[in-house]
Amino acid sequence: MTAAATSPDRTATGYSATARAFHWITAAIVIALIPGGIYMANAEPGPAQDLAFNLHRSFGVVLLPLVLIRFVWRLRYPPPPLPRDIPLRQRAIAHAVHGILYALLIIQPLVGWIATSAYRAPITVFWLFELPPIWPQDRVFSEALFGLHKAFGILIALLATAHIVAALYHHFVRRDDVLMRMMRG
Ligand code: HEM
Ligand code: HEM
Repeated sequence: MTAAATSPDRTATGYSATARAFHWITAAIVIALIPGGIYMANAEPGPAQDLAFNLHRSFGVVLLPLVLIRFVWRLRYPPPPLPRDIPLRQRAIAHAVHGILYALLIIQPLVGWIATSAYRAPITVFWLFELPPIWPQDRVFSEALFGLHKAFGILIALLATAHIVAALYHHFVRRDDVLMRMMRG
């Protein structure tokens, strides 16, 4: 084995396979939930809208334990620090965006669950089992909470877009390893 292969610097530059799996599964679900949510909120009632509702609620609910486990796992195994040649301000912004995304990805499914409970619509997870309502029936409150769900959805979409643009900027403009350490580790 070469000295480079055992050097702590070398092993500490990339995300682990577990961190990458968490990231890409979460990213795929979030990227599907946003256009799916917009479609179903504006679609005509019918089987296609019902299917979209069931899929949105199912994937949205799965995200909650997934992000919670991911967050606890991250506390146990902190990610590698960003390269030191990235200006401190940019590193601070990246950390802030990641932190806000983690928080929103925990809050947003809870808002969806509470709003759907207050509406008294069933939440069937992949046609397998039903989640219990966690809020008393209150249609006015439900409407207000869905307004918040929409606002958070827009915020997540904006932050995720900025995040993706930043990843592409690192790869194609700065030509550093930031994207690759989340792709290949
Ligand atoms: C991180 C997870 C989630 C994201 C990013 C997300 C995103 C969205 C978005 C963008 C919309 C469209 C809002 C609009 O245009 O009015 C939407 C609508 C909706 N979401 Fe979610 N959602 C998530 C989780 C959930 C969960 C867990 C549930 C329920 C258990 C849920 C239930 C709904 C419902 C019922 C609507 C339709 C609201 C309406 O008709 O006004 N969502 N969601
Ligand atoms: C094509 C889409 C995406 C690309 C190319 C991408 C790329 C990346 C890269 C390169 C990193 C590592 C940054 C670093 O080294 O500090 C990262 C981290 C992260 N990404 Fe993404 N990402 C994408 C989509 C998303 C989406 C949709 C979300 C959630 C809304 C998301 C949430 C996060 C979070 C929370 C982290 C921090 C991970 C940690 O340090 O624990 N990403 N992403």
